Amino acid sequence: MKRIGVLTSGGDSPGMNAAIRAVVRKGIFHELEVYGIYNGYAGLIAGNITKLEVGSVGDIIHRGGTMLRTARCEEFKTSDGQAKGIEQLKKFGIEGLVVIGGDGSFQGAKKLSEAGFPTIGLPGTIDNDIPGTDFTIGFDTALNTIIEAIDKIRDTATSHDRTYVIEVMGRDAGDLALWAGLADGAESILIPEEKHDLEHIINRLQLGIDRGKKHSIIIVAEGVCSGVEIGKQIEEKTNLETRVTVLGHIQRGGSPTAFDRVLASRLGARAVELLLEGKAGRTVGVQKNALVDHDISEVLASKHQLDQGMYRLSQELSI
Ligand code: F6P
Repeated sequence: MKRIGVLTSGGDSPGMNAAIRAVVRKGIFHELEVYGIYNGYAGLIAGNITKLEVGSVGDIIHRGGTMLRTARCEEFKTSDGQAKGIEQLKKFGIEGLVVIGGDGSFQGAKKLSEAGFPTIGLPGTIDNDIPGTDFTIGFDTALNTIIEAIDKIRDTATSHDRTYVIEVMGRDAGDLALWAGLADGAESILIPEEKHDLEHIINRLQLGIDRGKKHSIIIVAEGVCSGVEIGKQIEEKTNLETRVTVLGHIQRGGSPTAFDRVLASRLGARAVELLLEGKAGRTVGVQKNALVDHDISEVLASKHQLDQGMYRLSQELSI
């Protein structure tokens, strides 16, 4: 293998730049030529491809977003779109590809591998919802962004004796809500993996009030329902003054934490090694702090499991 490509796809996540840097520099270290594909699969179809040098990825390790930019591409879901993508890869003489993104991006990587094009999936999403890795790139940074925001909201919640509902990202996965709730001592955490019961949430609020608590924090993952709706229901059923904050895309930006930079560097380098070892259709990950790789079809066929022990702990501690 002489020439490889790298692209980022789907929602961006902090640390993607560090992963791109690792792929480029590890590739060059092994005397490969590395090409950057801009705008995800859409850019692949369009042939938006440029050779990257060591200096092309200088000064990006600490930056959020992705220097290669990203997109969600409907056309690449079709066999016609995939064929156009492979045609472009061949035109540029690229023999292996690293795709950095979430499960939607991995679907594209799987299709490329099935079509005989060596592709490695590198998990980059703030949602932490990719099986085969304990952590995805960007999760830790997003989590810390949420914590910083909730700490600030807590100041004003305490000053006004209010109940605060905070909506965080996570359509299908509750990791961000759960970890943030545990790290911030939220009274209730609503996640897509667990049914919620409004009466139960209100009872917990009431228990807190009975023992003199004047403010409360409730975290809702966006996949459960809108935080605004939960806030309205709480206010209607109680006399508690309630405010809602939807954190939104602030969770996706910002300088990656040290954890995400290191994770991205390790996974990016390992992805290149796998291509050099002649492996394809694999995903890289870290489990129990060891680098691992898995078959991409198996990863996509399984579902990320929420840590039930952590969920129970969050309930036990927020009495
Ligand atoms: O998958 C990452 C993510 O940030 C999800 O948490 C969120 O539901 C979604 O992307 C938002 O997507 P978009 O930026 O396209 O609105």
